[in-house]
Amino acid sequence: MLRKHGKLTTEEFEHIKEHPDLGCKILADLRPLAGVLPAVRHHHEQWDGRGYPAKLVGEEIPLIARIVAVADAYDAMVSDRPYRQGMPVEKVEEIFAKGAAQQWDKRVIDAYFATREEIREISRRERANLSLDVARWT
Ligand SMILES: [Fe+2]
Repeated sequence: MLRKHGKLTTEEFEHIKEHPDLGCKILADLRPLAGVLPAVRHHHEQWDGRGYPAKLVGEEIPLIARIVAVADAYDAMVSDRPYRQGMPVEKVEEIFAKGAAQQWDKRVIDAYFATREEIREISRRERANLSLDVARWT
C-alpha cells in the first residue's frame, strides 16, 4: 500500500507501474495461482488502452483483469489512505458511471450496479474486521 503524502514524481509513478510484472514474477511458480496471473499482470490496463503495463485495449484485456480492475478501484477509493479519507460510495459510483467504457469495461460496471447492495454489504462486513487507524500512519 502506498503511504506517501502528496503527489508522486514521474519517476516514482514509473516505479509503481512495475508492480504488476513484479507480482507476476513473485507468483509465477505457484501453480494453484496460475489462473489469477492475468489479473495480477493486467489489473491496471484500461478499456481505452491508456493503462499499463501492456496498454491492452478493450477485450484484449483478460476478463478476470477487467473485473479485478473495478474491484481494486472500488477498494482503493473507499479506503482511507494516509493522505486522504476514503470516498463515500456515492462518489465512487459517480466515477464508475463516468469511467464506464473509458477506464473500465462497461459490462463490469453494469454488473457492479446490478449487485451494488450486496457489494456494499460485503464491503461493510469485511471492513468491520479491519482496524485501520489512519492517524497512526502519519
Ligand atoms: Fe495494482
